[in-house]
Amino acid sequence: MSNLKACIFDLDGVIVDTAKYHYLAWKVIAQKLNFDFTEIDNERLKGVSRMESLDILLSIGNINLSQSEKEIIAEQKNNLYIDYINNMKPDEILPGAKEFIELVRSFGILTALGSASKNTGIILEKLNLAPLFDAIIDGNCVLNTKPNPEVFLKAAERLKVSPTDCVVFEDAAAGVIAAKAAGMKCVGIGSPEILKGVDLIVSGLDKMAMNELLNLQMDFYFDFNPTEVELGRFSINPENVENIPLGI
Ligand code: G6P
Ligand code: MG
Repeated sequence: MSNLKACIFDLDGVIVDTAKYHYLAWKVIAQKLNFDFTEIDNERLKGVSRMESLDILLSIGNINLSQSEKEIIAEQKNNLYIDYINNMKPDEILPGAKEFIELVRSFGILTALGSASKNTGIILEKLNLAPLFDAIIDGNCVLNTKPNPEVFLKAAERLKVSPTDCVVFEDAAAGVIAAKAAGMKCVGIGSPEILKGVDLIVSGLDKMAMNELLNLQMDFYFDFNPTEVELGRFSINPENVENIPLGI
C-alpha cells in the first residue's frame, strides 16, 4: 500500500517561473563586476541561498570581496529580484502547477512548500498561492539551506509525517541532494542531464500523472531471509536456496 502522506514542493522553477528572475538579477551583478555569467553557470545557484549563490558567482568571476562588500551586492541583487517579482502576473504560475497541487490535496495528501527563498511570502501573497499548502517552510525558517535537508525535514515535522512518507518536487540539483538526504522520494522538474539521482523526472507539473506519483511510494523491500522452518513450509532444501525461482 502507498505510504504517501505528503508532497513538498520547491517554489522557484517548480511552481512559479521565477528561476529566470534570479538568473537575470545575478547576470546584472556579474556584468557590473565585468564578467559573463551563463545559464549553465546558473544551474549551480539554483536552490542555493542568496549568500551562497553570491559566493559561487564570485568564484566563477574569480573575484574576492570583503563581507561588507558582499552584503551590499547581495542587497543589490535582491532589489533587482524584488522589482521583477513585484511585477509578476498569475500567468507566471508554471503550467499545471496549481491544478496538480489541488489534485494531490483532493486525494487527502498533505502539501508543503520547501523553499530556500526569503522572498517566498511576497510571491505567495502576490499570486494567492498560500492556501495550497498545509505548511510553508522557507529561507526564513532554516539555518541550513539546500543541499542540507533541513528545509524538507522541517516541512515533514510541521506536517507530522515521517520523511519516508514524503515526495519532494525539485528543479535544482542542490534540492535533489537535500531531498535524498532527508530520506524522501524526489521528482525532478527539468532535464535528466542536470537532475541526477531523482526517482522520476518530468518537464513540468503539467506532465505529472497522479498514478505515477502514487506508484513512487508503492515499492517495498522484500527482506526475506528464510530460516529452515520457513523453508520447510515451502518444502525447500536450504542448500538450494539460491535456486528458488523468483516469484515463489
Ligand atoms: C531559491 C532559488 C535560488 C535562490 C534562493 C534564495 O531556492 O532557487 O536561486 O538563491 O531561493 O532566494 P532569495 O529570494 O532569498 O534570494
Ligand atoms: Mg527551485
